[in-house]
Amino acid sequence: MATEGLAGRVAVVTGGGSGLGAAMAHEYARAGMRVAVLDIDEPRARDVASSLTDLGGEADAVPVDTGDAVSIRDAAARVAERFGACNLLCANVGVQQFGSLDALTDDDWTWVLTVNVLGTVRTVAAFLPALRGTDGWRQIAITASSGVFVPAIRLGAYTTSKSALVGYGDTLRLELAGEDIGVTLIFPAGMMTRHLESSAAARPEGLGASVLRNEDIEAMLASSPETAGDIATAEDAVRGLLPQLVANEPYVITHGGYRDQLAAHRTRVDAAFDRMEQGRAPQA
Ligand SMILES: NC(=O)c1ccc[n+]([C@@H]2O[C@H](COP(=O)([O-])OP(=O)(O)OC[C@H]3O[C@@H](n4cnc5c(N)ncnc54)[C@H](O)[C@@H]3O)[C@@H](O)[C@H]2O)c1
Repeated sequence: MATEGLAGRVAVVTGGGSGLGAAMAHEYARAGMRVAVLDIDEPRARDVASSLTDLGGEADAVPVDTGDAVSIRDAAARVAERFGACNLLCANVGVQQFGSLDALTDDDWTWVLTVNVLGTVRTVAAFLPALRGTDGWRQIAITASSGVFVPAIRLGAYTTSKSALVGYGDTLRLELAGEDIGVTLIFPAGMMTRHLESSAAARPEGLGASVLRNEDIEAMLASSPETAGDIATAEDAVRGLLPQLVANEPYVITHGGYRDQLAAHRTRVDAAFDRMEQGRAPQA
């Protein structure tokens, strides 16, 4: 299906109140889709939804905390009531917590894994009935990160969580293929968004404040100088995304110049195969 056929179809975007999610919401609305903008920051979700309706689209802001299973189910029920369908689900929320592996606290890990991994799993589970009940094109997009290909120090909890999403998304694609529901993993590199600020604001009080040390940021940038310059705006990052979702591409690289580093990684995996085949080839 071409993107021209999208008018009137329903897109749901979590983390739609800011950054990549807000840029996605605008792209989808420009294609004529009706958009549910879900975010823990309700005023921002409302601002995005209003800007879409001001442009002549149909949109609704829906509060959700993707760190909370009940909140996700409530949001799915509200979207079902308002739109009665779901063609495109973008499970886009992700939170960031800098820190070296020996400094990250149990609360840090609990929060990052709960929101980024369980939050995504629960979001997909909550919206699957709507996807299954909708005719025509259906697609799930999961926001991972370039960090899974080119890990940097001090981002261990985040990179672990986004790597889990790759395993989850690749399995989900296999399991839903028979139902013609596609799955795309999106790998943005760095973007100029409110990610650190919005992450800190969304962290539950009971888990203590999110600690951000300049030293961690500097160490991360120094450890990964090639990717440090890969920064785009969210609007640039979503350019070209929608046609790839419509084409059910398994992976989308939004931007970034880390192709050589990824090739070097593949070379190391190949070398491991070579050693295995040379050292442990089955005896004739
Ligand atoms: N900014 C980057 O450099 C970068 C790079 C790679 C991947 N990503 C990923 O892109 C996605 C979007 O991030 P962004 O950069 O647009 O950040 P952003 O801060 O601009 O947007 C994230 C939105 O998620 C919302 N949010 C946070 N926790 C939530 C929760 N528990 N429930 C519901 N909403 C919640 C925030 O309120 C915010 O509106 C994330 O998954 C992030 O991990 C970001």
